[in-house]
Amino acid sequence: MFKTIKNINNLDDLQKLYSDTFGKNGTMAVRLKEMKSLNDAERVVLNKEKDEFQNAFKARQTELEDAAMMESLAPEKIDTTRTPAPTPIGKIHPLTKILADIGRIFEGMGYVQAAGPEIETDWYCFDALNIPPYHPARDMHDTFFLNGIENVMRTHTSGIQIREMEKHGVPVKIFAPGAVYRKEMDATHTPMFYQYEGLVIDKNITFANLISEIKIFFEKVFDSKEIELRIRPSYFPFTEPSIEVDIEWDKTTGRPSKNTGVWIEMGGAGMVHPNVLRNAGVDPTKYQGFAFGQGLERLAMLKYGVNDMRKFYDGDIRWLEANGF
Ligand code: FA5
Repeated sequence: MFKTIKNINNLDDLQKLYSDTFGKNGTMAVRLKEMKSLNDAERVVLNKEKDEFQNAFKARQTELEDAAMMESLAPEKIDTTRTPAPTPIGKIHPLTKILADIGRIFEGMGYVQAAGPEIETDWYCFDALNIPPYHPARDMHDTFFLNGIENVMRTHTSGIQIREMEKHGVPVKIFAPGAVYRKEMDATHTPMFYQYEGLVIDKNITFANLISEIKIFFEKVFDSKEIELRIRPSYFPFTEPSIEVDIEWDKTTGRPSKNTGVWIEMGGAGMVHPNVLRNAGVDPTKYQGFAFGQGLERLAMLKYGVNDMRKFYDGDIRWLEANGF
């Protein structure tokens, strides 16, 4: 019988032999049914015969399958002279590009890059920053709360100020970009966006240093001294005094533009509040400094002329083809 198996040259015939042997009234099936009436020695012989048949069947099946595959591959030849089809090359997203660019600019200005967690505790996101429990930023309709009210999706990167001072002490000069989350969406707001925080603490840091750093930064980003900046008084619980920085722009082109009378807010800033320094273990009678936090998407809008922020996150490949790098 095993000789027969070896002589079979195609899978159909092999399968037929298997069915004739083990199928419903197959020769081996019939004998196996009578196993009960056999003595021990006869059972051993029969089982051995069955195993040998099945092993021989498997071996021949593999041989025939391999042969069939080799035969089907034989006509397929690799044409090494053919020019390969062009590989589609992706583009760099404008936000990725501007993130890398501002990193280089800040490093050139002596800032060291820092980072913090996106899921932040109430303490680092609010309390340590001198934000009282009743502050509107902590409202359910502004903040994504997790696990009750102890953890939040961070609403700004300012918590990194505390973390960095705790970790490395002062003096400190860091910038920290990262994703932040708020419940809002329109042409200049998205529910997830990027901020970059700046923090400079030392013994002789003044408000004039803050203004000049912000000016230098924007001049470098836009590679121009012609950008119209507006600095206006504001309020943040973690800075005193506080300011907001706007750039004059053209809403249609999305570009910075003079004499339009239309301003877009780029970020907040101010001198770090003594309570914030204390909460981070720093003596405010010895050290002082400034912090700022700006929106990366707004910067990218103005830099690349994008008039609706939501386009950055639409995931439209055609838009990226036209606007990527
Ligand atoms: C803050 O978040 C403060 N933490 C900034 C700060 C840091 C002040 C350090 C003082 C010292 P504000 O909520 O204004 O401030 O946000 C800062 C910037 O983030 C805004 O000016 C804007 O550019 C950007 N921004 C705010 N909300 C959104 C949003 N939903 N989508 C896109 N960008 C936004």
